[in-house]
Amino acid sequence: MAVVSYFPISLPPEAREGFEKTWKNRVGAVDTFPGFISTELLALPGRDEYVVLTRFEDEKSFEAWITSDNFTKGHRGESFDSYKDNPMMRNHKLFDVLG
Ligand code: HEM
Repeated sequence: MAVVSYFPISLPPEAREGFEKTWKNRVGAVDTFPGFISTELLALPGRDEYVVLTRFEDEKSFEAWITSDNFTKGHRGESFDSYKDNPMMRNHKLFDVLG
């Protein structure tokens, strides 16, 4: 069953333009990872909240990605482990795609 990772991000106004630019020029490592389907950055019109939606073929391939060097490469050297204590991670959810 496909899964969608829902990752909401709130940033102070001064950090938003830089984040959007960074995302537009993202590394693109995940694009070749087995099981990856798509990823997109959504933003509320007022830019007071972003959501990164990332779709994988199944939970197993998503878990394999977040624990891989590919995740670290896609995050410019930051591994998933290094993010564990980041308060933003508390809002991350993994949804099953039912249809
Ligand atoms: C489960 C948690 C997370 C998921 C599913 C996720 C998902 C993604 C994906 C799919 C990419 C694109 C990677 C690529 O192009 O290869 C990405 C890049 C990025 N993520 Fe995450 N991410 C997570 C955690 C975080 C955290 C905790 C932060 C910051 C606090 C973050 C900040 C970024 C930034 C800044 C980029 C762009 C990196 C660049 O190209 O310079 N991510 N993320």
